[in-house]
Amino acid sequence: MSATETLRNDHKQIRRLEKIIVQCHTKLYAGQDIPFSDIDKIIIIISEFLDAIHYAREENQYFPCIASYDSMKKEIRAFMIEHEFGRRIATSISRHLQKWKDGENEREPVARFLKAYALYLNDHMTKEEQFFDITEKQVLSQEEEKMMYEEFRAVTAVVTKLDDMIKSLDYLEQTPWMKN
Ligand SMILES: [Fe+2]
Ligand SMILES: [Fe+2]
Repeated sequence: MSATETLRNDHKQIRRLEKIIVQCHTKLYAGQDIPFSDIDKIIIIISEFLDAIHYAREENQYFPCIASYDSMKKEIRAFMIEHEFGRRIATSISRHLQKWKDGENEREPVARFLKAYALYLNDHMTKEEQFFDITEKQVLSQEEEKMMYEEFRAVTAVVTKLDDMIKSLDYLEQTPWMKN
């Protein structure tokens, strides 16, 4: 395994989340009820997997390594700004969900910010995957790929969090609102 492959694998899991979010906002707009606890699970995956693991790998290791070659700095800056944008949308989802739990009718803003998040994910990951094709072929050496991969794995807390995330995705994919 290499660092780039690891990030591509992360994206595969995030694509699963994207599908779940699309179904979630579609059903909310259609007036169907979705348990708050299921939306909470989506928010937890965003904060504990996307933020704490995937973005950390990109921001703390992968991007700095590419930038050290003085290459693709414009792309990297854009990705960092997009991460911040994603974090802001995620905060809005949480805030409106909390108000909804407190009794206000926040169906529309929750659905709207979920939709914005799904669009952000697709756009951001599509661009990053094109970027990975270039960095893998033209920038990173095999040794660097291997070293960064080892660094990713050295963070032991990551392993349990990854397992939890996969379980949450499995659970969400089996909910009634995902199936019909
Ligand atoms: Fe990213
Ligand atoms: Fe990414």
